[in-house]
Amino acid sequence: MSANNTNTSAYSDFHLQYIAGEWQKGKDDSVNTNTNPYNGDELVKIQQATEEQLNEAYEAASQAQQEWAKQTPAARAAVLYNAVNILDQRQEEIVNWLIKESGSTRIKAMVEFGATRAITLEAATFPNRVHGEIRPSNTPDKENFIYREPIGVVAVISPWNFPLHLTQRSIAPALALGNAVVLKPASDTPVTGGLLLAKVFEEAGLPKGLLNVVVGSGSEIGDAIVEHKTPSLVSFTGSTSVGKHIGELANGGEYIKKVALELGGNSPFVVLKDADIDQAVKAAAFGKFLHQGQICIAINRIIVEDALYDDFVTRFLEHVKTLQVGDPDKMETAVGPIINEKQVKSLKDKIAKAQEEGAKMILSGEIDGQVVPPHIFTDVTREMDLSRNEVFGPLVGIIRAKDEDDALSIANDSMYGLSSAVFTQDLAKGLRFARGIKAGMTHINDISVNDDSNAPFGGEKNSGIGRFNGEWVLEEFTRLHWISVQHQPREYPF
Ligand code: TAP
Repeated sequence: MSANNTNTSAYSDFHLQYIAGEWQKGKDDSVNTNTNPYNGDELVKIQQATEEQLNEAYEAASQAQQEWAKQTPAARAAVLYNAVNILDQRQEEIVNWLIKESGSTRIKAMVEFGATRAITLEAATFPNRVHGEIRPSNTPDKENFIYREPIGVVAVISPWNFPLHLTQRSIAPALALGNAVVLKPASDTPVTGGLLLAKVFEEAGLPKGLLNVVVGSGSEIGDAIVEHKTPSLVSFTGSTSVGKHIGELANGGEYIKKVALELGGNSPFVVLKDADIDQAVKAAAFGKFLHQGQICIAINRIIVEDALYDDFVTRFLEHVKTLQVGDPDKMETAVGPIINEKQVKSLKDKIAKAQEEGAKMILSGEIDGQVVPPHIFTDVTREMDLSRNEVFGPLVGIIRAKDEDDALSIANDSMYGLSSAVFTQDLAKGLRFARGIKAGMTHINDISVNDDSNAPFGGEKNSGIGRFNGEWVLEEFTRLHWISVQHQPREYPF
């Protein structure tokens, strides 16, 4: 089907795997029952893939990639531009899937759709941005050419929280740069994290075999995806614990391969004493509670300088009390459901632990099914679980800092280093503070939740290795090849 087709009847057949350009039934005995996290409605049942089907996907990817890499940049770019048009035509359908499958509020689904569209458009420029170099040589009569080539087959393993965007930010650049992909979406979001994008690329005219979506459980087929001889790069987004395991497998097994790891975070949101407090309060609420706090770059710790602490707490509490909680499909809902019961249980444990450790709970509410209302804690110290670990839910602790130096020391007291934010009306101070934070990203007078398709996204320390977006992902998803030419016979010493 061409991208100019005006037939936008809703996609179907999400009970099938997408392997070697065919929609086929999974052959494993186990079934993924995909449900709506808000009301429990069953969305689709997917028979999972076997290792044999995974091998078939890798074989198809490997074959198809060789032809795809030879295509002109214009031909590859055209597929990506087609995909952008299809996303636009199907925006409402895609947003609705994000709401019902991942529990996204309508606001979050729109944010995610926008980020997905932006990286697809950015990736469409990559085929024409790849370039090599000619470098001088210290050997007489030699010329050095440095080619930048596709890396080959890329394995992509993606999470459930921003499934569409966090999958697309790997697969769109990978494909644009002449690679093929074998993707395993998270078990909670097989449609928005994979099958839906396969439909978009199929409709966009992507040749068969270049994108394969293998639906299966990470604990069952995850290791086989990583250890397989075919992929040259494993692009993983998810928890630090699974990421460490993948890093070990990718470099400790029979076949060494490159890894790009986007892992957990513990973003500090720092309010210095000269901050615009009204703006800081609104930012803190949005940066914390967007998608119920289930974002790796969500605000995890609010750190407020002593002089503003009490005032900030009062105003933040008042503002958060006004947030609508419940049905994610309603435009006015700010806080929707948590993705699954396991995550709800982990949040209940965190609430209990925060109280045991002496934090003061100044806002709570009844947990109704998988809907957890905002919980706010004060008198939180840097040693408490709420400060040390990633929350991934609508709970937040507010920490008092003695002064600016203390705020910086608390902000950096973490094994993670993904995103961060600082509020101050003194920009010179803000820049100095931002540069002191050991993180991949810091936003002055804004939230830690930011993504620009042309700015480097990624973290330090246990938050991972590698960068997405712009020329950084272009480098990540290609390989360098130094080719020299000896123009005149060279004199050898023996
Ligand atoms: P994970 O449990 O790590 O799952 C992520 C992906 O890895 C899923 O597709 C999962 O499959 C798969 N997986 C699980 N075990 C595996 C194994 N042994 N081998 C290969 N793949 C395996 O994380 P999650 O629960 O989806 O997401 C929550 C965590 O991810 C949070 O810590 C969050 O910070 C982090 N996260 C980070 C980012 C960025 S950008 N840094 C973005 C989103 C989330 P199944 O679903 O089938 O288990």
